[in-house]
Amino acid sequence: MTDIKKPIVSVLLEPNWAASSLVVDVRRGLGSIPRSLPPKWLYDDRGSALFEEITRLPEYYPTECERAILRDNGDEIALLSGASTIIELGSGTSDKTRSLLDAFTATGQLERFAPVDFSESTLRAAAAEIAVAYPGVQVEAMVGDFTLHVPHLPQGGTRMVAFLGGTIGNLYVEERGAFLGALADSLAPGDSLLLGTDLVKDADRLIAAYDDSRGITAEFVMNSLHVLNRELGADFDLSAFTYVPFWDSRMERMDLRLRSEVPQRVNIPGASIDLDLASGEEIRIEISTKFRTDGIAQELSAVGFSVTKTWFDQDSDFAVTLAHRV
Ligand code: SAH
Ligand code: TRP
Repeated sequence: MTDIKKPIVSVLLEPNWAASSLVVDVRRGLGSIPRSLPPKWLYDDRGSALFEEITRLPEYYPTECERAILRDNGDEIALLSGASTIIELGSGTSDKTRSLLDAFTATGQLERFAPVDFSESTLRAAAAEIAVAYPGVQVEAMVGDFTLHVPHLPQGGTRMVAFLGGTIGNLYVEERGAFLGALADSLAPGDSLLLGTDLVKDADRLIAAYDDSRGITAEFVMNSLHVLNRELGADFDLSAFTYVPFWDSRMERMDLRLRSEVPQRVNIPGASIDLDLASGEEIRIEISTKFRTDGIAQELSAVGFSVTKTWFDQDSDFAVTLAHRV
């Protein structure tokens, strides 16, 4: 019987990170036109719970596609990566990641699992569960922002960074380039990246995936205004907003916005601003970029990764790409 190794949790965010960066983000994003709000404010405890519900919706295909890919190809991923450490960015509950942990422990190669997420309670719960389920694996969780803290990823051994769920598609194109460049800089030759990306497909299916019939996705996106009401004492009246998801065919991304249905003034005391919204004015909350295989390979090679192998689900809706740092 192998002893359970107690998980190590390090907090890279400053104690009032949320409070101080929320104020900066709100002033910058809502104070300029077009209005926007960074998506990181979607994932408070309620948002994380709503996201989990999204992953179980029949319309939201990406989770099940990626789960099947990881389940069917975990052994090959373990072999090709040769990694003894799995680092997971934006790990959430690390639910699908268990297929990887199973495959990497079956070969005996896995020494360490390092999940990184800024949703502290979700991360702590996942780290504790994984430490129990995989005795012998050291869990080293980091409460951090992957757009800032990539230079602080754990060092040593052969590392594979898993970035799943299509979360890379939630970054704007400039952010994505900067993120991939910083990630490549922080890895050594022989380390690898396992990247999950949703693929370009029929607009109807994409729109359905982000506009489910039960309205869970709308509630998830609206939750960002709840966060501002709670954290900054704002007085957003959620019933005065409509959720507007649309497919931007030029940028090949879903664009998720909230539209003010009436002219209104919103007080945001915690950020010392008043926001005047015109009737029909939109707040940009989130994008979800969809990819093509050749584009992924190009973006990766531009920063110093070389694609080792790409796996698809049965219908080629989703891709998981393993790329090595050269
Ligand atoms: N990987 C999981 C969860 C995806 S949801 C899956 O595939 O189902 C996106 C996750 O990334 C959430 O848990 C959210 O808290 C986290 N996240 C989003 N932006 C982040 C950032 N900048 N830094 C750290 N975590 C982030
Ligand atoms: N990475 C997921 C995606 O782009 C996140 C997500 C799923 C999401 N559903 C959402 C983000 C709805 C905002 C709104 O698919």
